[in-house]
Amino acid sequence: MQAAAISACPPSPADIDRAVQLLQAGELVGIPTETVYGLGADASNAEAVAKIFAAKGRPADHPLIVHLPGHDWIERWAADIPDAVWELAETFWPGPLTLILKKQPWVPDAVTGGQDTVGLRVPGHPVALALLRAFAQAGGSGGVAAPSANRFGRISPTAAQHVADELGERVPFILDGGACPVGIESTIIDFSSGVPRLLRPGHITPEQIETVIGVRPEKPLGAVPRASGTLEAHYAPRTRLKVVARERLLDFLNVVRHRGGFCGVICHSQPPHAGMPHVWKMLPADPAGYAHGFYGALRELDGAGADTIVVEALPEGPAWAAVADRLRRAAFGSGE
Ligand code: TXA
Ligand code: MG
Repeated sequence: MQAAAISACPPSPADIDRAVQLLQAGELVGIPTETVYGLGADASNAEAVAKIFAAKGRPADHPLIVHLPGHDWIERWAADIPDAVWELAETFWPGPLTLILKKQPWVPDAVTGGQDTVGLRVPGHPVALALLRAFAQAGGSGGVAAPSANRFGRISPTAAQHVADELGERVPFILDGGACPVGIESTIIDFSSGVPRLLRPGHITPEQIETVIGVRPEKPLGAVPRASGTLEAHYAPRTRLKVVARERLLDFLNVVRHRGGFCGVICHSQPPHAGMPHVWKMLPADPAGYAHGFYGALRELDGAGADTIVVEALPEGPAWAAVADRLRRAAFGSGE
């Protein structure tokens, strides 16, 4: 597969111009955000948005998040906006929070998966913001539809090179904003049904949301798989993945070693052991540090040729909920 062009890091003003021109021409651009890299297209251009689905191999009824340059753009895209949404936008935007709202009638079905709602987010990454502002200023719709820039069901990219590795020539240009600071996808809160619902946990927690709006968003009642991030087998490596409790980790690894195999190991408390054939990735033992490194570690170990990726079981508690969610989904595809 031919390699995509990657900008300088950080991108120059000429790189931003090039990205704006590509968006205006209905082409795709790889975009760094503070969560993960996105695969962006002009959200008002249904043909451009269709290219996202083709590049990702994603089913067309999966809605996309529309990224905006500021919360003054909300009303262009959404209707019936509750007060709580303005409060959250003022508190957490730009930042890793996506809000699902009733859409304006003109918003293309291609973006919303045919639903009457639209997901909006103002990303906090300076490169994403620079692009969104320049795109709006150039007379664009102000909205860039962007799912995570991975092939459908695979690990989300947290570096520009990951996007190139995943999508190759399917994306003509990638803006390089360095490693994504948050490292896992945004928190998604659905406001379209009256009560706020947590569709996807992320860096911004339900407890933080509650401090701003006075109610804690709840899990949706039915498991409606309308959001790909809510499908069970998502974010999955190709290699079998197993979560192992700290106390059992060394025994497990010994058994694999005696069989002549080796594992890729992600741990946060158990220090790497010399004299074992395994490949180790040590992540910080705090949820934010762990989230920052998690997808990169999974991706690296997925390419290491190991029999199994073994992840040391995570600590319990609400601070770990978002990472635990991603780990559970990554393991699900392995029958765990
Ligand atoms: O952090 C993020 O949110 C990243 C960066 C690039 O912004 N984007 C991302 O996009 O994770 P994606 O498409 O991989 O996941 C977005 C999730 C999907 O599960 C999608 O179905 C859901 O948001 N979503 C978008 N619009 C929706 C809507 N109207 N109703 C329900 N879910 C929606
Ligand atoms: Mg995704």
